Amino acid sequence: MANDSKGYSGLQIALHWLIAALVVFQLVFAEQIEQAFDDRIDGGMPVPAEEIGAWLHVAGGLTILLLALIRIVVRARHGAPAVPREHPAPLRWIALATHYLLYGFIIGMPLVGAAAWFGGIEAAGAFHSAARFILVPLIVLHAAGALVEHFVLRTNVLRRMLVPEKR
Ligand code: HEM
Ligand code: HEM
Repeated sequence: MANDSKGYSGLQIALHWLIAALVVFQLVFAEQIEQAFDDRIDGGMPVPAEEIGAWLHVAGGLTILLLALIRIVVRARHGAPAVPREHPAPLRWIALATHYLLYGFIIGMPLVGAAAWFGGIEAAGAFHSAARFILVPLIVLHAAGALVEHFVLRTNVLRRMLVPEKR
């Protein structure tokens, strides 16, 4: 990746783990917005519990979008470490592709969700809901990759997402 640095800054690490925690929250707490959205599409009124759950999902998702945009600006300025060069090319491409796709999801999911919720677009809701069948396996692949790097290949990849680079 262009703009290589030796490691991630404290801010980049904080943003990574905060966004990761929020993404898990979004995946776990999505049922109420789904019901509230269904009620609205059917012309009904969501019950208060659904309304609160829905707004939590909206707030969590829009926070992810904001943090993701900050993260991209910080990355452009600070750079990011390269995938270890000793890995075979296909493995490096998979790691890179996974990172770009994850960036795509943390920007795209909130936008499509917002189109559904604020624009009342049913197809956007269906697309947004179904996207988890790609997002969840992607996160599993990404986390498994990080653990394999650390415990099997014994690289510093996981450590550098935990400990800020010394400048
Ligand atoms: C990264 C951020 C987000 C993730 C990972 C996420 C995840 C999900 C998931 C997994 C569902 C499906 C729930 C189910 O079918 O049981 C869902 C539903 C929904 N989300 Fe999100 N969401 C995010 C952001 C947002 C935002 C910002 C909004 C609105 C501004 C939003 C609006 C909705 C709506 C309206 C539904 C119901 C769609 C339907 O049932 O057709 N989401 N979300
Ligand atoms: C759940 C949502 C998650 C998202 C959206 C996410 C997203 C990302 C992205 C986009 C990058 C690339 C950073 C960059 O170079 O700019 C990254 C790096 C990284 N992530 Fe995650 N991540 C998530 C969860 C996790 C989990 C659960 C783990 C560990 C078990 C993890 C470990 C790492 C590590 C070690 C790196 C650094 C890779 C490297 O330096 O080559 N991530 N993550």
